[in-house]
Amino acid sequence: MAQRTFSIIKPDAVRKGHTGAILAEIEKAGFKIVSIKKAAISVEQAKGFYYVHKERPFFNDLCAFMSSGPLFLMVLEKDNAIADLRKLMGATNPANAEEGTIRKKFAGSIQENAIHGSDGEDTAAFEIGYWFAGCELI
Ligand code: CMP
Repeated sequence: MAQRTFSIIKPDAVRKGHTGAILAEIEKAGFKIVSIKKAAISVEQAKGFYYVHKERPFFNDLCAFMSSGPLFLMVLEKDNAIADLRKLMGATNPANAEEGTIRKKFAGSIQENAIHGSDGEDTAAFEIGYWFAGCELI
């Protein structure tokens, strides 16, 4: 059954001009783009989004990075979207990402890793609701 997931093309990938190439990988893998918007988010918005990581040593740096420039917020849909997007993205640390994955191709470091994807159904529901109103999900 079709499932929705939430994704971000992160500021490093946008800065390097990889947005179009990443979107092409996503569409080629069979995802429908339900909604997409470019945004410049505040540190506070990033902290709310990544609140599950608030005790981690990288939390403040991560939130500063996510608010360092424009990014693209997206809702994607396909059968098994959550797991399939994570497979397409590759490991969090690009040094460990498989050949052919988005992070292997486009990520620079464990923090500046080009793309985010929800890690489960509950997370996807929270993340979609955090950035999108129901009327934007078409
Ligand atoms: P993401 O999939 O968006 O989920 C949390 C983010 O935190 C992750 O991608 C990375 O950008 C960042 N992150 C995870 N682990 C580390 C780490 N060890 N050091 C720095 N940043 C990290």
